[in-house]
Amino acid sequence: RRIGVLGMPMDLGAGRRGVDMGPSALRYARLKDGLEALGFAVTDLGDVDVPVAESLPPGGGLRFLEPIREACLTLKERVAALPEDTFPIVLGGDHSLSMGSVAGVAARKEVGVIWVDAHGDFNTPETSPSGNIHGMPLAVLAGLGHPRLVEAFGSVDPSRIVLIGVRSLDPGERRLLGEAGVRVYTMHEVDRLGIARIAEEALDHLKGLPLHVSLDADVLDPGLAPGVGTPVPGGLTYREAHLLMEILAQSGRVHSLDLVEVNPILDEKNRTAEMMVGLALSLLGKRIL
Ligand code: ARG
Ligand code: MN
Ligand code: MN
Ligand code: MN
Repeated sequence: RRIGVLGMPMDLGAGRRGVDMGPSALRYARLKDGLEALGFAVTDLGDVDVPVAESLPPGGGLRFLEPIREACLTLKERVAALPEDTFPIVLGGDHSLSMGSVAGVAARKEVGVIWVDAHGDFNTPETSPSGNIHGMPLAVLAGLGHPRLVEAFGSVDPSRIVLIGVRSLDPGERRLLGEAGVRVYTMHEVDRLGIARIAEEALDHLKGLPLHVSLDADVLDPGLAPGVGTPVPGGLTYREAHLLMEILAQSGRVHSLDLVEVNPILDEKNRTAEMMVGLALSLLGKRIL
């Protein structure tokens, strides 16, 4: 019943600035207090060192590949070094950090990944329309993309990945997801099947594996979570998101979590961070009754 919290104040993978303040926003939303109220022993391990964009040569997109790689390698080592009984929660930061967090947990044991996101994050430098690396981390983890990233972070068989909440795919990543055999539940399936059935199918698809949940704030409907850099209409409702977390929690198989893409500059009075903290508590076992 131990949790280690690690901040990753990185915005180098995103096209808009400000998501580097996400770890502070999530801490101000009383993540630690909430987890302690559930009975966990929580240690905040501070932030991983990430260079600020202003200290790097001007540019963006793929030009930030080496500093992102470096910071994610540090995160990977920090996560991999945690004791086996410690549940890591990584606070972002843009979603490229999950290359480090997932590779870190995958170094401890084989995992299944549940990526909860409006986007596929399955671009490669060839398919990406933006060049932004936060659109690429899931592909890298599955072994596709820039060789400098794949050799450092490729760590999960695509058959052990489930995407939930998707409603925006670029043409190339859409093709790659199909070819790789990633299980994808778009918002169409959320509407048709319901999130409870999807949660159960995901658990079944990843049967026997400990699970990593990577939660991108933009999976939520932008009306609930306006503090994100790449909002897409038609996202998860409050109850859909919580029910998904509650069912995953009941499986007892979730061993690690990322909370990413919270951008306080674009938010309203920190409500996006507060939503994300509420979801983390549901995933860690908070119950209504
Ligand atoms: N698909 C778009 C891109 O490649 C958006 C990616 C958004 N990713 C995210 N983690 N918010 O640029
Ligand atoms: Mn365990
Ligand atoms: Mn994402
Ligand atoms: Mn997203």
